[in-house]
Amino acid sequence: MEVIPCQTKQEASRMAARFMLNQVANNKYSVLGLATGGTPLLLYEEFIKMVSSKDVDLESITTFNLDEYVGLAPNHKASYSFYMNKHFFEPLGLNEDQCFVPNGVAHDIPKECERYEDLILEKGPIDLQVLGIGRDGHIGFNEPGSSLVSSTRIKTLTEETQKDNAQFFDSNESVPKHVITMGIRTILSAKRIVLLAFGEAKADAVAKMVEGPVSASLPASVLQMHSSVKVIVDEGAASKLNKLDYYKEVFANKPTWQRKEFL
Ligand code: F6R
Repeated sequence: MEVIPCQTKQEASRMAARFMLNQVANNKYSVLGLATGGTPLLLYEEFIKMVSSKDVDLESITTFNLDEYVGLAPNHKASYSFYMNKHFFEPLGLNEDQCFVPNGVAHDIPKECERYEDLILEKGPIDLQVLGIGRDGHIGFNEPGSSLVSSTRIKTLTEETQKDNAQFFDSNESVPKHVITMGIRTILSAKRIVLLAFGEAKADAVAKMVEGPVSASLPASVLQMHSSVKVIVDEGAASKLNKLDYYKEVFANKPTWQRKEFL
């Protein structure tokens, strides 16, 4: 894992956006894995700005979202389909047939999960997967206790996650309990992963993910088993890392040829 400590979430998001831009500029058939929630909003904003100023061709990329609420149709304002249309697909002029989000209102949920997993296998592998992290260490919505070899399936959100997500709903009660989420094996099959985390509320989860044991009790810790993960954090989220000074030193002393992926 490569930990990249930034001062602010703006700086961190710009760095992640440059990384994503390099991916699509170097391979116009890139497959991107995308997250929702508060964390990637600035990354998407920056990426959209960079794409329009550099005139990058996104016609042939494919995107897969990590998750969707069960029971929310794409036109529901709190659905992840709606979020993605608003913050990413529409501003970038992407077509419906390039962008995939699990269907939360599918009649047969297990079948939909299987279809989504098969689609990723067919069009993938995902070249670059963007992740956030929950306070309980979830990635996607693989909550503590999730199988570390899981594929796309239905999961139940913990009370903590339901509360955290309530900010996007009218009330706590209207947050769906169930989601369709890519599994941990699905996430690990991406070629490269960038995880963003901002604010002190994430500091515990980040420290355990990077420096704790690999455990299903902290699902993000499984990223230690992936060969290409960048963890880009602001000061708050980095505040409980034991080896923070070392991560800073590593990044500051990167050879020039390694820096190119962020330029
Ligand atoms: C969202 C997702 C989740 C979030 C996590 C953090 O698609 O898969 O794992 O990344 O819950 O959410 P925020 O960014 O709102 O703190």
